[in-house]
Amino acid sequence: GFEVYCARSDVRLHVPADRSVLDCLREAGLPVLSSCEQGICGTCELSVLNGDPDHRDSLLNDEDYAGGAFLACVSRSRSAVLTLDI
Ligand code: FES
Repeated sequence: GFEVYCARSDVRLHVPADRSVLDCLREAGLPVLSSCEQGICGTCELSVLNGDPDHRDSLLNDEDYAGGAFLACVSRSRSAVLTLDI
C-alpha cells in the first residue's frame, strides 16, 4: 500500500493493496465523482501535486500525465506518499 495526502483537505489516508484510491477517499469523507470505475471514462480525475503516480487507466496520455492528471478509480502510487489536489 501507500499513503495519499489530500493537500486541500489536509487529510492523510492509507491505501491498502486491495483498495482503490477512490474508495479510500470516499471512506475519508472526500467526495469524488465516478462512473465506470475501470479507468476509461475520466469522471474521477484528480490532480497529482507530488509523488510518483502509477497510472493504470486506459484513457489518459503522456501529456495528460505531465499535467498531473490521475484517475483515482484505478491508478496507484510508486512513491510512499502521493499528494493529490483535493
Ligand atoms: Fe471512470 Fe475513474 S470512474 S475513469
